[in-house]
Amino acid sequence: MTKSHAGQAWSPESWRSKPIVQVPSYPDPAVLQSVEDDLATWPPLTIADEIRKLKRDLGHVAERRAFLLQGGDCAESFSEHSANNIRDFFKVFLSMAVVLTYSAALPTVKVGRIAGQFAKPRSSNVEVRNGVELPAYRGDIINGFDFTPESRIPDPNRMRSVYRQSAATLNLLRGFAVGGYAKLERVQRWMLDFLGDSPVAEQYNEVANRITEALEFMAACGISAENTAPLNGVTFYTSHEALLLPYEQALTRDDSVQGGWYDTSAHLVWIGDRTRQPDHAHVEFARGIENPIGLKVGPSTTEAGLLELIDILNPGNVAGRLTLIARFGSDKIGKILPGLIRAVEREGRSVVWSCDPMHGNTISAPSGHKTRPFGRVLEEVQSFFEIHRAEGTYAGGVHLEMTGKNVTECTGGSVDIRDADLANQYDTLCDPRLNARQSLEMAFLIAAELKKDRSARPSTLLAAE
Ligand code: PEP
Ligand code: CO
Repeated sequence: MTKSHAGQAWSPESWRSKPIVQVPSYPDPAVLQSVEDDLATWPPLTIADEIRKLKRDLGHVAERRAFLLQGGDCAESFSEHSANNIRDFFKVFLSMAVVLTYSAALPTVKVGRIAGQFAKPRSSNVEVRNGVELPAYRGDIINGFDFTPESRIPDPNRMRSVYRQSAATLNLLRGFAVGGYAKLERVQRWMLDFLGDSPVAEQYNEVANRITEALEFMAACGISAENTAPLNGVTFYTSHEALLLPYEQALTRDDSVQGGWYDTSAHLVWIGDRTRQPDHAHVEFARGIENPIGLKVGPSTTEAGLLELIDILNPGNVAGRLTLIARFGSDKIGKILPGLIRAVEREGRSVVWSCDPMHGNTISAPSGHKTRPFGRVLEEVQSFFEIHRAEGTYAGGVHLEMTGKNVTECTGGSVDIRDADLANQYDTLCDPRLNARQSLEMAFLIAAELKKDRSARPSTLLAAE
């Protein structure tokens, strides 16, 4: 039986009376309080109208009229904050979106794991190096990565730095998105440039050429960035895990226009796989905000457990409110996902199903680096599409850990990073990310799956007649 939360009072702080896991214990509550008080008066980073628009866009995904691309760093950091990193991520991310949009012949809803993705849940509370044990690193919003006792002490003032970095990142992204920098012809050129010097260029040139032809055809018809706004920019949204609730609460504001509480730290926030206990604080916080919510669904999820969470998080069954982010591992998805999909279908629940093929496929390389083999990541994505095809449901999106930089963190792909290469440029402070070429290659491989689904549905043009 599922317990109903409907009718139970909610407020931005009602999570405080619930059990909570994965949060730091700050040494000085007075410092924490002063940071929360300040943050609560600072301007919102996103606004309710944008958040509502993302919810509508995700509603289109739930209704099979769009595809979701969500991706970015595992954890943003203070040390990697630079205009070049943001620009390089944006370029590869939009290049991927072009490939997906073309292949699916559907709009791609673009959601970055960026401008706020700083708090990390950890499997262990401690880290041991050479016999020395210290508290685990929990992301730059909580403590420092340096392996010293001082650096690992949680410091609330880090929330101020995260707010400022997120505001600066968002400002640049907004400028890129709407200022003409991201016009479609230019994104197409970035895509060709990434492809141009990669080992998969030949394999994917045909698709790339067809996209170029489509643009030339539109230009010949008089449709250009100058006269057609959607070709001159993109709508780009932000997201992160709502893990550090004092920060999320401080940025949760009552919408003066339509009413309702909006977590203005991002457009979408998600609940991690380790913090989705239905009677705990993270679920309590998420259920009361109006934002679209993501829910990580890992191997320990049961059918009854999932339905209970859906009841709590989306009692009105609103399309676009809830995105289930499946992250099982390539060896487990086939055993678990079909039953969960059937349970959701049986109960008539509207959800977006997205695939995170990263978090269930992390292994330790012989060198000691955490890595993810490209082949396993791809296998989980392909299983995800096949399972949805077999169930008659919609594989609505993907969720990737990726960067625009040329890192060596995940093995394989046609760039063929080997175990021995991992040390070359292993920059991540947390989980391994697909690099720029691996990300674009993954987009082409996902596009091939979308293409199969496209041939099975009526043309959007004919349907509009
Ligand atoms: C993450 O997305 O970075 C993460 C920690 O995922 P999960 O909660 O699925 O393990
Ligand atoms: Co991660």
